[in-house]
Amino acid sequence: MSVKIILAAFIAATPVAAAAQSPDPNLGRNLAANCANCHGTNGASTGGMPGLAGRPQAQLLQLLGEFRDGKRPATIMHQLAKGYNEAQLQAVTTYLSAQKPN
Ligand code: HEC
Repeated sequence: MSVKIILAAFIAATPVAAAAQSPDPNLGRNLAANCANCHGTNGASTGGMPGLAGRPQAQLLQLLGEFRDGKRPATIMHQLAKGYNEAQLQAVTTYLSAQKPN
């Protein structure tokens, strides 16, 4: 097997491995605490900020991906979104979409 093939196999397996190693059932909730100062506790916004609670998970994940990739104009979210890996974004959006909005 060439080095290239081994490398390709490793890269292909990485996201699966990362998702499989998230044994912490509270990961989504813990990560959502990082969003609370701006978006409200558990994503339930009380002020001028967009709420995140109860919104479709796929939509939240897409917005975060667009911020991260610079495809969506932002003042701060483009920086914040870069701080999370794919498994963490999955966990936090899954948690937020299951919360009750205000
Ligand atoms: C320092 C304040 C701050 C924090 C912390 C923060 N956000 Fe944001 N968020 C914003 C602002 C401001 C916007 C509007 C876009 C912009 O200007 O960056 C936004 C927009 C968003 C949007 C798009 C909402 C829409 O309807 O357009 C999503 C999704 C989002 N944030 C998710 C998150 C998640 C998930 C976290 C935690 C991991 C988080 N944000 C943490 C300030 C914050």
